[in-house]
Amino acid sequence: MDNKKATLQIGNRKKITLDVLSATVGTEVIDVRTLGSEGYFTFDPGFTSTASCESKITFIDGDNGILLHRGFSIEELAEKSTYLEVCYILLYGKTPTKEAFATFKTTVTRHSMIHDQITHLFRGFRRDSHPMAVLCGVTGALAAFYHDALDVNNERHREITAFRLLSKMPTVAAMCYKYSIGQPFVYPRNDLSYAANFLHMMFATPCEEYKVNPVLEKALDRIFILHADHEQNASTSTVRTAGSSGANPFACIAAGIASLWGPAHGGANEACLKMLEEIGTVDKIPEYITRAKDKDDPFRLMGFGHRVYKSNDPRAKVMRATCHEVLDELKMKDNSLFKVALELERIALEDPYFIERKLYPNVDFYSGIILKAMKVPSSMFTVLFAIARTIGWIAHWKEMHDEGVKIARPRQRYTGHEKREFTSCSESI
Ligand code: SDX
Repeated sequence: MDNKKATLQIGNRKKITLDVLSATVGTEVIDVRTLGSEGYFTFDPGFTSTASCESKITFIDGDNGILLHRGFSIEELAEKSTYLEVCYILLYGKTPTKEAFATFKTTVTRHSMIHDQITHLFRGFRRDSHPMAVLCGVTGALAAFYHDALDVNNERHREITAFRLLSKMPTVAAMCYKYSIGQPFVYPRNDLSYAANFLHMMFATPCEEYKVNPVLEKALDRIFILHADHEQNASTSTVRTAGSSGANPFACIAAGIASLWGPAHGGANEACLKMLEEIGTVDKIPEYITRAKDKDDPFRLMGFGHRVYKSNDPRAKVMRATCHEVLDELKMKDNSLFKVALELERIALEDPYFIERKLYPNVDFYSGIILKAMKVPSSMFTVLFAIARTIGWIAHWKEMHDEGVKIARPRQRYTGHEKREFTSCSESI
């Protein structure tokens, strides 16, 4: 039972006592839910110090570079697990038995096709549309196909929705790519793993057999694991907020995709690769480091810094190792982008500006190099992030409904006009 208290002294006339609630690990929270009735709001744009909910799914210790999914470290999961097993753990909070995992895997595999009518939706987009725009639109449109038989208050409906989204996101994502290059859609295959199936849908053509490289399959599966969930990040908070009104989950996931697209969030992998290509060679790095530090220059080192990690992002270390593996396999060891990235990381980590601000490479710093080496176009990088993060969005959406949800309705600090008389500009109404 929590009995720790916090006392808020306001001026010399008001004292408010608030409960301090413990956490299993990490930061305790001050329960401010009664503050509104005392006539005050907390003020925290960007939610740097605000816990928006209670969750059991993921824990991050930003100061010590720790990331746990249901208590299991990301390093162990990346090394010993598979993306679908991590999906099971995120959804159900425990490791599956062999039988349960076999059933889970079969269910995911058997829902990967989409309603054939959805293929017509793509025709409404220009071929050169950004794939994230198409993914957002088509995912939102899935709400039209799965609406009537969907009661968000029904646990079984929530579970079926989780399977549908987990299964169909790679299929829709690969279709976004195929549509952009004018190639026919490739249907999912039930004999392939989750990662292999996606690579096959991306790169196979009807003209010849496409064999998935097992090293790239393993690398992509690990990249999916590294992106699966990350606590209350911007896109997950978006899904929770949208879902808190009881909205259709497909529409909520589309909102999450929209938020992820931003270059400050999931769009950073695409932006980071563009930055490395713009830098081009190691000798140009100092110029860009100077720009990143210049307050008058909007340029930032993409793939660097993090709201929570004020030490190494544990995912970045695994990503760097995966980058080595993929470049070795593809005989691209002298990859100039990788050399620029390694040197940029070395220089930045020795620079007082980055050290003082605790700016380290994040999950997006190396992923673009790997994906480019795997011939994934940069416009598809955030799409792959969205595939992987779908399970995180769904796990949080499901947890929110499982626990009983209050509609998200933040307040504000109002600094606009006080009440004033209105005079219309038009002579006569
Ligand atoms: C992801 O939330 C998550 O968990 C996200 C994510 C996930 O898995 O869901 O981990 C995925 O989004 C990773 C982050 C990807 N974004 C980028 O790589 C874009 C570049 N990074 C920055 O835009 C920035 O670091 C953020 C957005 C990631 C974090 O920004 P914050 O926490 O709001 O930090 P801030 O802007 O207040 O910066 C603090 C200081 C500032 O300088 P001062 O005003 O104190 O002098 O650090 C500077 C910033 O200017 N700074 C940078 C920088 N990031 C922060 N300076 C140069 N380059 C950078 N990348």
